[in-house]
Amino acid sequence: MNTRGLGAMLDLELKAVREGLADVLVPAEEVRAPRKAPVFYNPRMALARDVAVLALRAYSRRLGREARACEPLCGCGVRGIRFALEVPSVAEVIMGDLNPRAVELSELNIKRNGLEGKVSVSLSDANVLLTSYSAPGARFDYVDIDPFGSPMPFVDSAVRAIRGGGLLALTATDMAPLCGVHVKACMRKYGAFPIRVRYAKEVAVRIMIGALARVASAHEVGIRPLFSHATDHYARAYCLLLKGQGKANASISMLGYIAHCPSCREREVIKGLAVPIDEECPSCGSRRLISGPLWVGELFDEAFCSEVLKEAQGAPWIGRRARKLVELALEEARSPPTYYSLPALCKVLKVSIPPVRDVVEALRERGWIASRTHFDTQAVKTNAPVKELAHIVRELSLI
Ligand SMILES: C[S@@+](CC[C@H](N)C(=O)[O-])C[C@H]1O[C@@H](n2cnc3c(N)ncnc32)[C@H](O)[C@@H]1O
Ligand SMILES: [Zn+2]
Repeated sequence: MNTRGLGAMLDLELKAVREGLADVLVPAEEVRAPRKAPVFYNPRMALARDVAVLALRAYSRRLGREARACEPLCGCGVRGIRFALEVPSVAEVIMGDLNPRAVELSELNIKRNGLEGKVSVSLSDANVLLTSYSAPGARFDYVDIDPFGSPMPFVDSAVRAIRGGGLLALTATDMAPLCGVHVKACMRKYGAFPIRVRYAKEVAVRIMIGALARVASAHEVGIRPLFSHATDHYARAYCLLLKGQGKANASISMLGYIAHCPSCREREVIKGLAVPIDEECPSCGSRRLISGPLWVGELFDEAFCSEVLKEAQGAPWIGRRARKLVELALEEARSPPTYYSLPALCKVLKVSIPPVRDVVEALRERGWIASRTHFDTQAVKTNAPVKELAHIVRELSLI
């Protein structure tokens, strides 16, 4: 049957799209807000799906056996279908969606890619679907929560539907709350206070992971982030779930706050949920902005980033942007929290912007930790005080 015939069954004009190794039908009409489409498909999110494929390939290679995955908010099914086609050890993908047309289109796409028996889809609320797999023995190795807006309404059931040592991937598209534009929405969804700073994208990822750590710990589950990124209009995190009170305590100990001085740009990372925080900036005495509670631990596992990068070499269909992103993530894996936007700093210093690479090199030559960051390609991560960074930037801008 042609796409017109198939679409008639759904009362939808369809077109065929190739993404990764998948060949899927998606709504033909391009809408400005994909969320308003009769069935969701956003070609811009192909980058996130490319990275998800690579992360799942690396994780399932570590697992060393067949893996079972769940995508309970699947839209047209492209993500789960790609897992089944592009991750050799994925034996089963269970998908679901609350939109009947999304489920019908996913069914068409499963057949179109010859995946009956390996991928299935049901008309189900994500929490109901996940809960039906929460018994020991039924749980998944990997769950991917990719909703409209915040993942938090689905996190509790996702934690319960993942076996010990399993991997949970979260997307948040509500960047305005997470980046401090809608403070109340961030407090509601994530129980954290956000801040409007140049490095807000990283703060967004840290708030989301911090909220996951708190939900998981209620189930005596600890978390360990393996990979994270904030690209375009969304934040993503891949976290291992580790069972046990000790693991939960360890991840709760990685919650804390970031205190940011809007005057001199100095920032302090404060570990601990209930600790006194001085509002006064120790460098200039101005009143600091405080964000949290949020995750103050690592956002990347360096070994995992290397494995993800290696997977990219064996998957030539993965897009260039995803490769670049993974390379940068590996570079920043050991860098300290937060980063400095060079254009913003140079504007204040009234100097021209030196190349990011030169600034990183100069910082390293002076013994500081420094790297570029995928969060902002015009920024540097460093443990050097802002005064030292400013000194180096001034020097370089004179060359
Ligand atoms: C962002 S789209 C998913 C996109 C898909 N994961 C991808 O990679 O293309 C979110 C989907 O969640 C579905 N949805 C919203 N609320 C839901 C719920 N409570 N349970 C299940 N599906 C839901 C929507 O119908 C929509 O298809
Ligand atoms: Zn200050």
